[in-house]
Amino acid sequence: MIEDQTDPRREHADSDAWEHYWEKALGADMAGVSGTAAQFVREFWLASIGSNLTGTLPLRVLDVACGRGGVASILDEAGWLGKVEYCGVDISHAAVRSMINHFPSAQGVVADVQDLPLLSGNFDIVCSQFGVEYAGEAAILDLVSQLRAGGQLILLLHCVGGQIYKECYDQMEGARELVQTEFLPLSMEMFKDAYAVLEGGERRAYEGSSGRLVAKFRALEDIMRRRGRGAAAGMVYRLYRDVNQIHRDLPRFQREQVLSWLQAAAQEVASFAGRMDGMCASAMSESQVDALVLELAKRRLNAKVEPMLTAESGAQIAWQLTGAMRK
Ligand SMILES: C[S@@+](CC[C@H](N)C(=O)[O-])C[C@H]1O[C@@H](n2cnc3c(N)ncnc32)[C@H](O)[C@@H]1O
Repeated sequence: MIEDQTDPRREHADSDAWEHYWEKALGADMAGVSGTAAQFVREFWLASIGSNLTGTLPLRVLDVACGRGGVASILDEAGWLGKVEYCGVDISHAAVRSMINHFPSAQGVVADVQDLPLLSGNFDIVCSQFGVEYAGEAAILDLVSQLRAGGQLILLLHCVGGQIYKECYDQMEGARELVQTEFLPLSMEMFKDAYAVLEGGERRAYEGSSGRLVAKFRALEDIMRRRGRGAAAGMVYRLYRDVNQIHRDLPRFQREQVLSWLQAAAQEVASFAGRMDGMCASAMSESQVDALVLELAKRRLNAKVEPMLTAESGAQIAWQLTGAMRK
């Protein structure tokens, strides 16, 4: 069951950006949610939630900023989803719809975590995997109100300087450099001039814009030399390849089709850079998580925070914050 509880009178931070992201991500990959989490991340969730599966009543689990159900899929693979009452909340309709499609026994709520439309004190476990921190520290502290006495808060949080942070920062810089080259606006200008020539117009403008675009191709080559073909999630490489190919084969493509493709690409680059920026901004430093633990203690929640390290390199990937409400 899905409930939409977003408040139409309120501005919901970045909700359009997340909706766009999920619609695109789900459209590109219909394969499902399983298999996406690293083994050590699964082990963390299985250990921290599994230790609570001892009573006779089903555990009530609230997964905040659940996306399409990363945590639910781990519970499902362990055969535990049927043993808990799982409720996933996310700001994106598309993500919640997909989560419910995969896990029909789950409850899905479309809402901003800063404005949770749920009765307080109702959950045995409140968890979030790389989600609630996007809404800021106040939203993390507010999660305490959702827990019953003795209930557990279990969070995986992005960390400043960690492996995911470094990758996102690098991707964000790649996307910014791509924007700075002005490759896309100049490609658009060049294609307009090129179509004008095809339609019998004069060549001077086209010669100017295509000449200037050569320097922009060199700028893209420079980004790829420094950052690899994966720069800006491969968009630098794909644009380099596709603009070149369309230019060589221009009569095969329609003017409006090419221009709207370039416009969509520019929006895609901007939204990707924004998402990477949002991730970096949501990441928490050691002093921030230490302060968070102190604030949680004032709200009767005893928490501890530890770095989560990757199994392969031992690099920090996240903060794992776990704690229980005092009875
Ligand atoms: C990196 S994804 C993680 C999704 C999921 N927890 C997982 O591990 O697969 C971050 C999620 O936070 C959600 N989100 C961001 N800001 C939010 C907010 N203010 N309220 C609710 N959800 C939010 C996004 O829609 C997105 O699904």
